[in-house]
Amino acid sequence: GKGAAMVTAVAYRLATQHAERQRILDALRLSREQLMEVKIRMGNEMNRGLAKESHDQAAVKMLPTYVRSTPDGTERGDFLALDLGGTNFRVLLVRVRSGKKRSVEMHNKIYTIPQEAIQGTGEELFDHIVHCIADFLEYMGMKGASLPLGFTFSFPCHQNRLDQGILLKWTKGFKATGCEGEDVVTLLKDAIHRREFDLDVVAVVNDTVGTMMTCGYEDPLCEVGLIVGTGTNACYMEEMQNVELVDGDEGRMCVNMEWGAFGDHGELDDFCTDFDRAVDDRSTNPGKQRYEKMISGMYLGEIVRNVLLEFTAKGLLFRGKLSERLKTRGIFETKFLSQIESDRLALRQVRSILQHLGLTSSTCDDSILVKEVCSVVARRAAQLCGAGLAAVVDKIRQNRNLDKLKITVGVDGTLYKLHPHFSSIMHETVRDLSPLCEVTFLQSEDGSGKGAALITAVACRIRDAGQH
Ligand code: GLC
Repeated sequence: GKGAAMVTAVAYRLATQHAERQRILDALRLSREQLMEVKIRMGNEMNRGLAKESHDQAAVKMLPTYVRSTPDGTERGDFLALDLGGTNFRVLLVRVRSGKKRSVEMHNKIYTIPQEAIQGTGEELFDHIVHCIADFLEYMGMKGASLPLGFTFSFPCHQNRLDQGILLKWTKGFKATGCEGEDVVTLLKDAIHRREFDLDVVAVVNDTVGTMMTCGYEDPLCEVGLIVGTGTNACYMEEMQNVELVDGDEGRMCVNMEWGAFGDHGELDDFCTDFDRAVDDRSTNPGKQRYEKMISGMYLGEIVRNVLLEFTAKGLLFRGKLSERLKTRGIFETKFLSQIESDRLALRQVRSILQHLGLTSSTCDDSILVKEVCSVVARRAAQLCGAGLAAVVDKIRQNRNLDKLKITVGVDGTLYKLHPHFSSIMHETVRDLSPLCEVTFLQSEDGSGKGAALITAVACRIRDAGQH
């Protein structure tokens, strides 16, 4: 009768809506073959970045760091460290003891960098940094002390030596003027001199390198550093003979891959969705850091928001009502992605998170769908990241002509540490795509600052030995 026809019509509408949602989400799901392809392309890009003749055209820059070994426990001394480019800006005092009582003791203070400093002039930014250093020294009761300083500066830098870093381009939303193409050590020193004191800047260190060194202090098998936080990047120990940008063939050197730029020359075009393109278009650096924009904390929330916008526009979510809130950029922070996917979270709580975000008109079905979107976007990020890492460990294995490689990856970053599923999905992907490598993951505590101090310690020891 009529009733049955209506039930059928409703069932049919629900089924088509379901199919429609899945069709949209399918664009964000990657097959094993696709991930394998990502691994292969990353491997090719690594070679192109390392080789002199292709370096200039390569998307993945593979930057030499002048760090030639992982720690051996003989590092010692008191150091200052700066950490710029992650979630927080920090100044640290690091005491490294060697010998039987080897240990690292740290004091640090977190400072906020006002938006004006990030987006103003470079002079303002570095003046602010130096203001924070001065405040920290006073806070520690060390005013006037001149300790060697390691500068963790987590942006792509071209280095000709350890104590130099020419900023190639800002990433992660930074855009202070007058810095690109300049040596950040000079910018820092100029700012220090404007305040009429002096500091001995010994090393510029990427956060990936700091993390590798910190984990290497505990585990000598650690020869890879990985960050999955605001941005994403990796470094590893490469054979000197493959580091064509630096003379010499003996030993190894740590290479800062700057893998976030993978995809900038179209390497990821066949996996990108309209959502990725929308996020990229509205960023401070369109066309740049395409891989990073599919993986890291600064962008995942925006991908999710764009998917939700599409669902709503198609009448599949929030009763088809596009709220001003949902149209607002940046409402989903990384924290939100982690919360919403937490296994202990009841759907009712998902709903209250949405309400907290001002998305009030949600139903129970809406909560289920939002959670599914978050999970699909985070899974893809973890798998893409795992595919890249699989290329790195396999390259190290091939470099050493090994049938089997045992290696440790030191990891840091808020997304990796706080998201309930990111790390396990990533680990699984690496194991699946690089079965000949036995990879252990080691989380670093306070990795970048401590690592910068360890690198500074080695540099000071070598320099002092040279002077005597
Ligand atoms: C961005 C930076 C890179 C850094 C990474 C993680 O990709 O370009 O230098 O290592 O973020 O912070």
